[in-house]
Amino acid sequence: MKPKVYITRKIPKEVVKQIAEVCNVRMWEEEDIPVPRHVLEKELAESDGLYCLLTENIDRDLLDKSPRLKVISNMAVGYNNIDIKTASQRGIMVTNTPGVLAQTTADLTFALLMATARRLVESSDFLRKGEWKTWSPMLLTGQDVYGSTLGIIGLGQIGELVAQRAKGFEMHVLYHNRSRKLEAEEKKGIQYTDMETLLKESDFVCILTPFTSETRHLIGRKELSLMKNTAVLINTARGGIVDEAALYDALKKKEIWAAGLDVFEQEPVAIDHPLLTLSNVVTLPHIGSASFHTRMQMAQLAAENLLAALLGDIPKTLVNESVISK
Ligand code: DGY
Repeated sequence: MKPKVYITRKIPKEVVKQIAEVCNVRMWEEEDIPVPRHVLEKELAESDGLYCLLTENIDRDLLDKSPRLKVISNMAVGYNNIDIKTASQRGIMVTNTPGVLAQTTADLTFALLMATARRLVESSDFLRKGEWKTWSPMLLTGQDVYGSTLGIIGLGQIGELVAQRAKGFEMHVLYHNRSRKLEAEEKKGIQYTDMETLLKESDFVCILTPFTSETRHLIGRKELSLMKNTAVLINTARGGIVDEAALYDALKKKEIWAAGLDVFEQEPVAIDHPLLTLSNVVTLPHIGSASFHTRMQMAQLAAENLLAALLGDIPKTLVNESVISK
């Protein structure tokens, strides 16, 4: 009997084919609509493996209704959408896709930083709306990236790669992380600081930490008030790390200068969200890892992880290693 697998969104057909060689595959065929909860519940009642995205909330209630589940393969590096504790208690392996998306996400983070600093979206809109009358000395002036100070909150793989890019722009790089990274400090010429110093001294504050109960609203009113009023906040991690109401107020009151956001507390973000009314906010629809090559790599790694778990091997990028000893 082949194991039964449910895939929660249309993924590349080569990858589906690879999984289907070993498993009975069912898939939510839509590209733009997430699988409804009742469909997911029905499918998981009979599935041995789940291949899902960050849009699916795999909580205790759903796991209660999934008696056969052996593996949850998340096609994302972040896994805040999954109740890891409950999955681990039930011996369900959870896997993610680190590494393969790090360079692409670092590229996007830096692109967003540049676009926000130099007002690229606002400038393009200005031109298209026919508002460009003449070259003018202070027209659409922004902040310098070259030679400025970057503060990275969360120095994982992506954080280190952002630091590397920043060095090309002769930026002074500070970081704050749960643990110090002495090798990275030495190799990349970056400096560890406490959070307060990082917020006070950085021209750009870049959030790249995982979203957990400890990092929820890590950046709130107090933290924003410590930042320079010329500073730019960039978030390409998870929306919930920033208190959006506090961010809106800080931008409105000009406590900070601008923000570049690829992620939001609620996704997709509501079109009438207050942050979308501000011209000093650059907004993107969670596209950090969205290059053809990287999304393919993520899809493939998620498939390899799923198959390894179902065939009795240890998946390459297992999140909850404690389940192996069970
Ligand atoms: C992730 O992988 O967690 C990103 O947010 C999407 O690539």
